[in-house]
Amino acid sequence: MADKKAQLIIEGAAPVELPILTGTVGPEVIDVRSLTSTGRFTFDPGFMSTASCESKITYIDGDKGILLHRGYPIEQLAEHSDYLETCYLLLNGELPNAEEKAKFVSNVKNHTMVHEQLKSFFNGFRRDAHPMAIMCGVVGALSAFYHDSLDINNPQHREISAVRLVAKMPTLAAMVYKYSMGQPMMYPRNDLNYAENFLHMMFNTPCEIKPISPVLAKAMDKIFILHADHEQNASTSTVRLAGSSGANPFACIAAGIAALWGPAHGGANEAVLTMLDEIGSVENIDKFIAKAKDKNDPFKLMGFGHRVYKNRDPRATVMKQTCDEVLTELGIHNDPQLQLAMRLEEIALTDPYFKERNLYPNVDFYSGIILKAIGIPTSMFTVIFALARTVGWISHWKEMLSSPYKIGRPRQLYTGYEQRDLKK
Ligand code: CMC
Repeated sequence: MADKKAQLIIEGAAPVELPILTGTVGPEVIDVRSLTSTGRFTFDPGFMSTASCESKITYIDGDKGILLHRGYPIEQLAEHSDYLETCYLLLNGELPNAEEKAKFVSNVKNHTMVHEQLKSFFNGFRRDAHPMAIMCGVVGALSAFYHDSLDINNPQHREISAVRLVAKMPTLAAMVYKYSMGQPMMYPRNDLNYAENFLHMMFNTPCEIKPISPVLAKAMDKIFILHADHEQNASTSTVRLAGSSGANPFACIAAGIAALWGPAHGGANEAVLTMLDEIGSVENIDKFIAKAKDKNDPFKLMGFGHRVYKNRDPRATVMKQTCDEVLTELGIHNDPQLQLAMRLEEIALTDPYFKERNLYPNVDFYSGIILKAIGIPTSMFTVIFALARTVGWISHWKEMLSSPYKIGRPRQLYTGYEQRDLKK
């Protein structure tokens, strides 16, 4: 909705009137689309001041520490919903009634297996390959198997692909883990819920099927809910950009996985544990805090700070509580690495450097600790983030395709050579 207008005064040129758009909540947005007609562009590396699209899926107020999915606060979804219900909400805009939920769950369960031939892909990878490297490959490879749902202009195809991706991600993630361990891959079990089934495929073997702890399954489900979507972050924007060219959904999600991998984004949960290893013991904390503050040192405290949340990360609050529940269930409050993490949290929350810059522990700080306690290897952390975020990516992809959109094509401020002649 455009109510007000902004006026851009450019020296030596006529003023340019730019409409101001207002969303349902959130800051006003200056619509600069007409600026190109003046032969000028805006310059905003890192998209610090740029809304790349209009969306109805997720709202974040970073100053107040608010995260809403389709209007519902993340704390309420984590407390009263479950992951598949949250998936339905993100994909369809409303929470399902009992019948809709049962149908959706059954539909997802129908698609949990992956094509048998996909297994042979794994043999091409080294066993010590990073699981995210394998995920980029095998998720992209799904487009070679599910030709019957690749027409992006067909709403039914988009629907089937969305369900296939939500259903198959846990299976693929567990297959990656089993491959790295040299253990047989486990088939999904549709009598279990989403999180239980994932833990079953991860930790059970054909010769020993152990029951899944309800506390750990609940914690896993919460991790999935808390990572399900986060509006236009780097990986979601990557999925939208790839999708804007008309690429198929599996290829787009593979692009999202690649973008998520970096330590400033989804790779942070893995980086937290690597950092704790590097710090080693509580005595070394001061040295590493000093490194984090030193402008000439690239070291950062992993799991602290956020581009958008400058107050607190609401997901971290839920995750911290879940972290306590898991550590109590497993009786491992005394683990030296966990104690190190807790001491680091304490220092960072009281140190003026971190307080002044609002560098609070983010969701990845606590999720890393929980995943480690559950027994998931560090290299799998970002894979689990990707598994959970797939529904967010696919919801944004679907939203983009269901409304008029243009191929994403940013411009640049060119500072290279002017034209010159090649002289020989
Ligand atoms: N440790 C030490 N100093 C930091 C940290 C940190 N983790 N994060 C930011 N700072 C400092 C930064 O040096 C700067 O200081 P100054 O104002 O003196 O120059 C100030 O805080 C503001 O930081 P920024 O770099 O402008 O913030 P940003 O919005 O560009 O970066 C971030 C956000 C998440 C990339 C960054 O905080 C970071 O690298 N954190 C560690 C990695 C991490 O935990 N990432 C996971 C984010 S949550 C999961 C997700 O949503 O993907």
